[in-house]
Amino acid sequence: MNQIKNIDDCYNPSHDETARQGYISLMRKFIMNDISKLMNLNYEREIKTDFYRIESRFPSSGEEVRRSIEKTDIYKFWSSLRYNAQEMVWESVRRGIEREAPNLISIYKDALEDKSNLATLELDSNLEMPDYVALRDVHLMPGCWQNEYAKDDLSQGAMYAHGGSVFRGSFMPSKKRSGVACSVSKWLSLRYPDFSPVNILETGCTIGNNLFPYLEVYPNATLNGVDLAGPCLRYAFSRAVERGVKAHFYQQNAEKMSFEDKSFDLIVSSFFFHELSVDSTKKVLKECYRLLAPGGILVNMELPPSSQVDPYYNFYLDWDNEHNNEPHYREFRSQDVYELLNGSGFDLNDCFNVTIPDVGGASAKYFNDVALGKAPPPKHGNYTSWCLFGAKK
Ligand SMILES: C[S@@+](CC[C@H](N)C(=O)[O-])C[C@H]1O[C@@H](n2cnc3c(N)ncnc32)[C@H](O)[C@@H]1O
Repeated sequence: MNQIKNIDDCYNPSHDETARQGYISLMRKFIMNDISKLMNLNYEREIKTDFYRIESRFPSSGEEVRRSIEKTDIYKFWSSLRYNAQEMVWESVRRGIEREAPNLISIYKDALEDKSNLATLELDSNLEMPDYVALRDVHLMPGCWQNEYAKDDLSQGAMYAHGGSVFRGSFMPSKKRSGVACSVSKWLSLRYPDFSPVNILETGCTIGNNLFPYLEVYPNATLNGVDLAGPCLRYAFSRAVERGVKAHFYQQNAEKMSFEDKSFDLIVSSFFFHELSVDSTKKVLKECYRLLAPGGILVNMELPPSSQVDPYYNFYLDWDNEHNNEPHYREFRSQDVYELLNGSGFDLNDCFNVTIPDVGGASAKYFNDVALGKAPPPKHGNYTSWCLFGAKK
């Protein structure tokens, strides 16, 4: 029996590794805050005016901003630093995870054998990976989510957990509450006070970061997570066993899931659809409609549609499209989410697209007022507010 019970604690970076991770986190903050501000200032003061002089108008799309800003030194500096910092995030945790790989497997095997276990895991080693995941390392994470380097491997789940902490500048992921799921579940409880789901599904659940927190608002619910990636699902399953929660994880393609019609009363996702081609997005949404019970709710957290933010912010958000191995990012954001939902079967009158504050960052009064439509929603901002689209069936 393994002595370490908590899979998130199965990671012991050396002094130098910890120092490097701290440095990279701070460097990312410097790039995303300070240098970003300088780049924006340069755009407002010079690029926009130059554009106006030639075109007699300001740039009207993210693409036009991109084409005009790409030549500037500040953009090249910002973009290359950002790209390198992204690679350094994963590199800073990779060796530590390789050292722990056998221990991660051993904790997972203990979890499988735990007789008090309320969680289950169904893996399918023959599942075909769609191109949008198989052809590249999304987020520049070596091995992406799904690659396996040993039997029963969990490494990519651990990469996502610990690399994610360096990326966000928040260490000790096991002790952090998850912003999206805590915010969305609280919003649901205010917006739909009589709604009490018993069977919740997350599509693209990865390691369950944004699935487990639903139990805080709906403690009697059963959780279900679908993902393509075996290593991430093993990680999520091990977490569920050590937390003693009723959660089932399935290695399936969300475009075609095995569950019966009307199996769930709440279906959620976060940071998921922008990784998919539009064709796949439509298939997943149709599946969500099929799997929702009447009266059930679908709620997806995603990047804001390009029609809802200004051209500069579109350029800024869509950087990942060209540089972070997320080639469907811009295409997804250009969709009309109401059309997508309606095309999947939902009645237009039952669809929503709202931005809510992060529950941890906003005052309780403001959060409640936004949820109840008594205060204007916040502007989109990374980790300070969440853009949601979905529908009630
Ligand atoms: C950006 S991550 C989602 C993060 C996660 N929801 C969270 O909040 O931490 C995208 C996840 O979707 C999974 N994925 C991508 N396409 C999928 C598909 N067609 N079916 C199921 N999972 C998919 C990937 O394996 C990956 O784990």
